[in-house]
Amino acid sequence: MYVLGIESTSHTFGIGVVEYCENNIRILANVNDQYVPLKGGIHPREAAIHHTRVAPEVLLKALSRAGISLEELEAIAVALGPGLGPCLRVGASLARFLASYYDKPLVPVNHAVAHIEIGKYINRFEDPVILYVSGGNTLVAIQRKGKYRVLGETLDLPLGNLLDTFVREIGLAPPYLVNGKHQIDVCAEWGRDFITLPYTVKGSDLSFSGLLTAALELVEKYRGDKERLGDICLSFRETVFNMLVEVTERALVLANKREVLLVGGVASNKILQEKLSAMTKLHNARFGSTPSEYAGDNGAMIAYTGLLLYMHGITVEPDKAFIKQRWRLDEVELPWLMNY
Ligand code: FE2
Repeated sequence: MYVLGIESTSHTFGIGVVEYCENNIRILANVNDQYVPLKGGIHPREAAIHHTRVAPEVLLKALSRAGISLEELEAIAVALGPGLGPCLRVGASLARFLASYYDKPLVPVNHAVAHIEIGKYINRFEDPVILYVSGGNTLVAIQRKGKYRVLGETLDLPLGNLLDTFVREIGLAPPYLVNGKHQIDVCAEWGRDFITLPYTVKGSDLSFSGLLTAALELVEKYRGDKERLGDICLSFRETVFNMLVEVTERALVLANKREVLLVGGVASNKILQEKLSAMTKLHNARFGSTPSEYAGDNGAMIAYTGLLLYMHGITVEPDKAFIKQRWRLDEVELPWLMNY
């Protein structure tokens, strides 16, 4: 059977198709189109206009890559949240239309759950400690009694937003990525010396705003000094990543898990992967990250999670498929997590 998944929670409009056959799941298509703002951050309405414009082409491309027609689908899955209202509405409208018109079951998917499930699928992980880092999220979670339980999270800025804001404020971005590498990593290569910056871990929660202010003040103080700017970028990145490693390590030890899984848009950062991998080795646990095709927002992760939900009998009537802009990860009941 085939399940199609629609992603439109933020800057990406994506459609994926997965196949379930003889206890095997295969990803047949993963077509994504990202809205890139000319300057500044994401403008929700402009992103939604982008999604509406590219939707037909992305849909046709995904179906042709999968080699199937809409009639052959078993179910249609859609990310109903969390995300930006205008963007979510594009995916939800398309999903409701397709489900009604072709008379297919509609499956409601939580975007955060999808990031985690695709990471588990790729790494063949059963019961990991999860570090989920993206433009809009930063949290550490484990699975327990039917839900993902958030052990710690950012109290202010999410990681992706923090890194992007910093490089934008100091004049290095946009573009935020150069050959797949974030500007913070490019800038950090100019540096040598570590400068102590605010390091704020509160229990298992994190706070980044003091660090951001302090680093921006330093940049202002040493304006024009490229080597010093490199030191600041290096110290900024090391401080942020070390904070993330600390809370992940604490969760790993306290929850007594054997796997650490890195997911979300920032999961493709090599430096963060190396740090987490080194920490995980110290505890004889396995580390897994997510390849960039599935780390950022994408349709395949919605299709895959939609398939899992559908196989557990979770669907929604099209006229009740409302978007949920603040649909938290730990609100979602997941039958396959019941035994953890
Ligand atoms: Fe995401």
